Amino acid sequence: MRHTIPETDARRLLGGGPVALVTTAWRAATNVMPAAFVTPLSIDPPLIGVAVHPARHTHDMIKFSEEFALNIPTRALLHHVQYLGSVTGAELNKLELTRLPTFRARKVQAPLLEGCVGWIECGVDDAYRIGDHTLFVGKVAAAAAEQDAFDDTWLLANEDERPLHYLGVNFYAVLGERLQARIPQPAEIKADVEAGVAELGDEEEAAKRREAREAEAERRDRGDAE
Ligand SMILES: Cc1cc2nc3c(=O)[nH]c(=O)nc-3n(C[C@H](O)[C@H](O)[C@H](O)COP(=O)(O)O)c2cc1C
Repeated sequence: MRHTIPETDARRLLGGGPVALVTTAWRAATNVMPAAFVTPLSIDPPLIGVAVHPARHTHDMIKFSEEFALNIPTRALLHHVQYLGSVTGAELNKLELTRLPTFRARKVQAPLLEGCVGWIECGVDDAYRIGDHTLFVGKVAAAAAEQDAFDDTWLLANEDERPLHYLGVNFYAVLGERLQARIPQPAEIKADVEAGVAELGDEEEAAKRREAREAEAERRDRGDAE
């Protein structure tokens, strides 16, 4: 059974990317807020976009400082993330209130959060008004990750070191397992195109179908030759 979803909730189907705690610093003030609207935009130069509503205190902090940092939390910070997204730094000092320990970033003034497993420091390259949010385009100035959590990709080996993902409302998740896909070889793709079908899905089943197809092609070729 399919059910329709309101247009304004369609974004939730894309939910599940790691949530980021956006830290900022401007003059003597610092702030932190969770953001789910975070996306890579370019590999070289390395650009990352974060969409921030103009009503957020973080919006002004980024606008004035032209910098921000993304901190990727784990499940240990679940309730912190929700809390930091429920109160505004315009009225209180969230870092002081939550006693989250911080350390100095390498390239930006924004503090980095201990207890996270990944950190990205950005300088603002551009800003676009998109719908009701501002898309700040950050150029990555420095990045780091916990060795046990990330090595080329998230490893997901240790439950406590998996990034926290935001599903919407006050629901979150962690990924369960890292799956490795088979990389198709050029000869295989050529054969698929010739046959008009790519044998995919269950690896064992697909291999059997591919073999059967090859045997059939061989039989045909022999028949043609006879
Ligand atoms: C998990 C989560 C993700 C959020 N993602 C975003 C986001 O991507 N962009 C945004 O503008 N607000 C987002 N919010 C809302 C802000 O975090 C929230 O309004 C926060 O209190 C703003 O803090 P500030 O005023 O100190 O900047 C999110 C909230 C939560 C709980």
